[in-house]
Amino acid sequence: MEEDLQELEIWLRDALAIADSVLAVEVVRIEALGKKGRLTTLLKTLGRLSPAERARQGETLNAVKQTVLALIETRLAALREAEMEVRLAAERVDITLPARPEPEGCIHPVSRTIDTVAALFGVMGFSIAEGPDIEDDFHNFTALNMPLDHPARQMHDTFYLPKRADGSQFVLRTHTSPVQIRTMRAQKPPIRIIAPGRTYRCDSDMTHTPMFHQVEGLVIDESTHFGHLKGCITEFIHAYFESDTVPVRFRPSFFPFTEPSAEVDIGCSRRGGEMKLGPGGDWLEIMGCGMVHPRVLTACGLDPERWQGFAFGMGVERLAMLKHGIPDLRTFYESDVRWLRHYGFRPFE
Ligand code: PHE
Repeated sequence: MEEDLQELEIWLRDALAIADSVLAVEVVRIEALGKKGRLTTLLKTLGRLSPAERARQGETLNAVKQTVLALIETRLAALREAEMEVRLAAERVDITLPARPEPEGCIHPVSRTIDTVAALFGVMGFSIAEGPDIEDDFHNFTALNMPLDHPARQMHDTFYLPKRADGSQFVLRTHTSPVQIRTMRAQKPPIRIIAPGRTYRCDSDMTHTPMFHQVEGLVIDESTHFGHLKGCITEFIHAYFESDTVPVRFRPSFFPFTEPSAEVDIGCSRRGGEMKLGPGGDWLEIMGCGMVHPRVLTACGLDPERWQGFAFGMGVERLAMLKHGIPDLRTFYESDVRWLRHYGFRPFE
């Protein structure tokens, strides 16, 4: 028996030493302690011994069993630790590495400019009105005092849609002024709105794209006069360009839907090919405006003896180009991400 036990222990130590996985240790455990295991078989022989002998041998065998269990447990612990070491090395995370940058979207200068313009007029009590991009002849031309044979219709190189069965013809709106008409026909004065949106003209060069954006403005009540128009526009220009020293000039002009009409210029200087806003002797045109023509009021069902007011319209891209120094209008619509990253705006600024 003594010999058997010694041999068992030697065998066990060797077997465990080469068992290199939890599974291999389990095989060894079964070989030692399983139903037909080496130690189990020895334990079974106890029954054949005398009570005194059985007590003595039993104690020895139990001690051996504890040793066997302890050896197995030790081996398992070593294996688990080694396994952990391997995982720690393989799954190592370097928390000192800089985070991978998440690609961040940009706000397009057109959207940003419309937001800014809307906010500035919002402070002056204007709300936002919208109209469709596809307009009928009445809203885009006729109601704006441009009857069918009016030469101003040629001023806008219009995208016409195919004629309908009833002879009517729709157009891609050439300006945002039809929103004036829609607003006056739908709403009772006092009216104070701006209408930002897409507009279309059959034009394409360095300073024209077939689609561009305008912001229209309209104020109608009983006593609004040209002085209010000048004050409102001047205030807006100073706020938008963040400078009270940018000169503003109202130059007499013509629009069929306003009378009198003016073009608004802002002062700038041009030296060595570089343009700078501010007093400098040169002028840049940035919008059209005027007092709403009595015929336009009449077309909208308003009595021109009672109601009056002003309207203005400006190009959004032009405002953005002037403020942010963007040289070519066409680049707005080339969808070049590098351009957008350069001129776009971060969403959380
Ligand atoms: N609709 C004009 C244009 O597109 C601009 C304008 C608007 C002028 C309102 C006067 C009043 O050129």
